[in-house]
Amino acid sequence: MTLYSKIIGTGSYLPQQRVTNADLTAQLAAKGIDTSDEWIVSRSGISARHYAAPDELSSDLAVAAARQALAMADKQPHEIDLVIVASSTPDYYGSFPSTACIVQRKLGMGNGSAAFDVQAVCSGFIYAVSVADAFIKAGAHKNVLVIGAEVFSRILNFEDRGTCVLFGDGAGAVVMSASDTPGILASKLHADGSYADILSVPGNLANGAIAGSAFLYMDGPAVFKLAVTVLEQVATEVLEAAGMSAGQVDWLVPHQANIRIMKSTARKLGLPMEKMVVTVDQHGNTSAASIPLALDAAVRDGRIQPGHTVLMEGVGGGFTWGAVLARM
Ligand code: UT7
Repeated sequence: MTLYSKIIGTGSYLPQQRVTNADLTAQLAAKGIDTSDEWIVSRSGISARHYAAPDELSSDLAVAAARQALAMADKQPHEIDLVIVASSTPDYYGSFPSTACIVQRKLGMGNGSAAFDVQAVCSGFIYAVSVADAFIKAGAHKNVLVIGAEVFSRILNFEDRGTCVLFGDGAGAVVMSASDTPGILASKLHADGSYADILSVPGNLANGAIAGSAFLYMDGPAVFKLAVTVLEQVATEVLEAAGMSAGQVDWLVPHQANIRIMKSTARKLGLPMEKMVVTVDQHGNTSAASIPLALDAAVRDGRIQPGHTVLMEGVGGGFTWGAVLARM
């Protein structure tokens, strides 16, 4: 019997503090940095984002999202045999243990489940789902908790108006389980390290301190240009791999970085805007958390129904990109 993997539960969590463009613009103006709601909305589609409290870590956001996903999947933490966390802002910054191990402890699993982090920045959730799919199909694990969790507010340089207005914090989670009917229909992952410098946190730990910068750096226009190209390519690839056409996609759930990139991808695929899940306006760019946050929003408000075909795709630092086509 062919073994498949299926998403059987979704969950998400946004930190309490909601920061609107007006809030942020006022904070930046106090420091002499000029921006506006008009610029942020017209260039990115973002109106608000959430910031974690000082004592909230990626694992805290991850655990809150995971609990929701577990409840929807009707699974107890001890039934999970693998935890994968995608994060570029792990609890132990630049070091160890992995955030997945901290999540395992905070969920009280105590069952010896495997746990590890995946680092592919904004493509992290897509990478993690693909890895979980492969592990399940290989028969190595049955119930996998896949989480994207980020506290990007910690790595933002609030002197850099070109980046600090774009990102937010949050977490999204899915439970993926072995199934005898198809769930994940196809997935494709890519990277091109020759573009490492256009989106990075260019620092490293040396002698107990950070050498270089601990803040996010982005060449926005270069990232934009690459993103619109590779997102269309990988969407086409994953559809071909599944033997499907874009017309058979019920929902497009893209990485939520910029509404202009998202609209361009939908347009190139010939998908109407009504089929695209949009949360970037309220969440900003939450990196690895953005896709599962959007997925959960559309599952919980009833747009995404069992049996629907969902195309998820991500792009980010590395440069990394990938797509997953899933039957819910
Ligand atoms: O999650 C990983 C993937 N990330 C992405 O997909 C992000 C991709 N990039 C983008 O979304 C866009 O490039 C941005 C939203 C970052 C920027 O939009 P843009 O249309 O590419 O603008 P730009 O960087 O070319 O800047 C245009 C102008 C510049 O002024 P001049 O040189 O034309 O006078 C900037 O200095 O806008 C200025 N600017 C701002 N003005 C007001 C940059 N940031 C701001 C700001 N407020 N916050």
